[in-house]
Amino acid sequence: MPDVIQTIDTLDVHGKTVLVRVDFNVPRAADGTITDDTRIRAHLPTIVDLQAKDARIVLMSHLGRPGGQRDDKESLRGIAAHLSALLGQTVDFADDCIGPDAEEMAARLNPKGVGLLENLRFHAEEEANNPEFARKLAKLGDVYLNDAFGTAHRAHASTAGIAEFVAQKGIGRLMQQEVNALSKVFDKPKKPVLVISGGSKVSSKIDILRHLVTKADQMMIGGAMANTFLAALGHDMGNSLFELEQRANAKEILSLAGACGCRILLPVDVTVAEGLKENMPTQVADVEHIPADSMALDIGPKTAEQWSKLISQAGTILWNGPVGAFEIAPFDMGTTALAKAIAASQAYSLAGGGDTIAAIAKAGVEADIGYISTGGGSLLEFLEGKELPGIKAVGSSKNAA
Ligand code: 3PG
Repeated sequence: MPDVIQTIDTLDVHGKTVLVRVDFNVPRAADGTITDDTRIRAHLPTIVDLQAKDARIVLMSHLGRPGGQRDDKESLRGIAAHLSALLGQTVDFADDCIGPDAEEMAARLNPKGVGLLENLRFHAEEEANNPEFARKLAKLGDVYLNDAFGTAHRAHASTAGIAEFVAQKGIGRLMQQEVNALSKVFDKPKKPVLVISGGSKVSSKIDILRHLVTKADQMMIGGAMANTFLAALGHDMGNSLFELEQRANAKEILSLAGACGCRILLPVDVTVAEGLKENMPTQVADVEHIPADSMALDIGPKTAEQWSKLISQAGTILWNGPVGAFEIAPFDMGTTALAKAIAASQAYSLAGGGDTIAAIAKAGVEADIGYISTGGGSLLEFLEGKELPGIKAVGSSKNAA
């Protein structure tokens, strides 16, 4: 991560017009109704802290993937109304993100006033990171803040190119929280560092595993991904799902982990059933004795107990991916047990990813996890060891001030 990074505390935002890149790319129903406003609420601390300094706040975001064309279904107008209700004040709206509409809106804001620009992706120049478009956006504020961690893996005009055209730049409160949480895990972690990696496919996580074995002291691998590792070690997996062609990659991860001093933990027992359906008859099998007609669908109770003990002894925990088919009972047992163990542990814990967040909510332990990241693709790219353009563009600290 960068070495010096400015925040609302270190930048002069008092009375200024502050242009904030947010990520209001929220899930919506077919009729456009917002089905989950977590991403909108996550930016409220930035808005409120800027208001406390009498700033005028111009917000910009993308919504969906309109492909560089105006598309009313992807308009941010409804989100301005939703934000008005959350803030208890009218949020102004500009029908375009550049040009006279946007400039007039920015100019008419009062101190503490908030305005939202129309979807950035109605212009193809946004995703093309076009410098002229970035320059037009930059004109809308005295100070630029990137608060959109969810979009930090995109090198777009509003997340990357714009930084060239602003005198003052930094990050908002949400980005600051994300950077600090990631820094606690990657830059100065309390040892031992434990990674819990789950999910279905080694193929989609291979770069993450390769990177994280160099950072972790221990790594638990669960979910269908563990089946591929167990198959690579010669276990007969019965009817379990696994990726035949990924066995070589699994072996490579095991030897890389050995070379880095990272202890890999695979399930010692699994909960199996003949198929993945609600309330199927199940049995527990040691991984050496998986019945030929069954599928491994969750870690078994012995594994859950051993792993929970290690979780209680960890200094830092990074969790990405459920360790079983947690959406369908009773195959949620292992994931829920680990979620509760993480919540009860004294370790600093960081969790992220859509399924992981859903599993934490299902276990009812959100309040006891150190930090739950709002990042989707951006978090995964960070975990692969990639530098995120949206953070790089605004400065350089291992730690946000
Ligand atoms: C996301 O939802 O992951 C971010 O908002 C980025 O959206 P994108 O994948 O369309 O760039």
